[in-house]
Amino acid sequence: MQSNPDNPIGVFDSGVGGLTVVRSLMERLPFENIIYFGDTARVPYGVKSVETISHFTTQITEFLLQRQVKLLIIACNTMAAVASQVVRDLSPVPVLDVIDAGALGAIATTQRKYVGVIGTPTTINSNAYTRAIHQHAADVRVFSQACPLFVPLVEEGWLDHQVTRLTAQEYLKPLLAQQIDTMVLGCTHYPLLKPLLQEVTGTHIRLVDSAESMAEQAAALLESMNLANPQRSAPEYHFHVTDVPLRFQTIGERFLGRTLYNVHVVKW
Ligand code: DGL
Repeated sequence: MQSNPDNPIGVFDSGVGGLTVVRSLMERLPFENIIYFGDTARVPYGVKSVETISHFTTQITEFLLQRQVKLLIIACNTMAAVASQVVRDLSPVPVLDVIDAGALGAIATTQRKYVGVIGTPTTINSNAYTRAIHQHAADVRVFSQACPLFVPLVEEGWLDHQVTRLTAQEYLKPLLAQQIDTMVLGCTHYPLLKPLLQEVTGTHIRLVDSAESMAEQAAALLESMNLANPQRSAPEYHFHVTDVPLRFQTIGERFLGRTLYNVHVVKW
């Protein structure tokens, strides 16, 4: 199916965390229309079963495909880890996911070929990052660590807080013992912890933000498929969520880095 270059890019996540990916896309591709879906009623996904995540992912994919997106971006690492095939099977348009983007970013960054990956328990247990890295570079050693407390700490806004620092020191201890030189932030929420994590790892370890890698990959794909929007007018952004929870606006704007407007509540 050949899409129209004016059509929006569809980006989705389990909640508002995927707005870190939207933020990178807005910066890298300032003329692209974007339609975002965040399942705020059912977040977090990171501790749910593969069956449940696959079922939710199907619903979201169908919702976005009905809105004529030209490209689908799985911004949620957890969905990318266990349900990306579900999306690819349903989608007539190209699909990109943050795990592949993060894996390629890690391979391009590591010198010693020792890479650490942090993410939610579901992402880490799935081994998806290790598989994605090994698919492109079998000689890279990958060390993973689930960091389940990071998501609530970020939502609480404790981005530069002693509790978060101590938590990070504890979680990262095993990775730092492995002499890694690169660490992938394998969760939508972690880019907001970048300064604190960099402080804990030291500057000799390079942090790979999968949101940034994704924006680069999306730009290259649109270019190669002649799908980049040629219009130079201000693009349209629409945000669909399944609930407007307490402090939604504040948290959402923290992830997006700008005012969040055009928010639509989806009732299924
Ligand atoms: N979006 C999820 C991820 O990137 C984090 C939040 C959740 O657990 O749903 O893994």
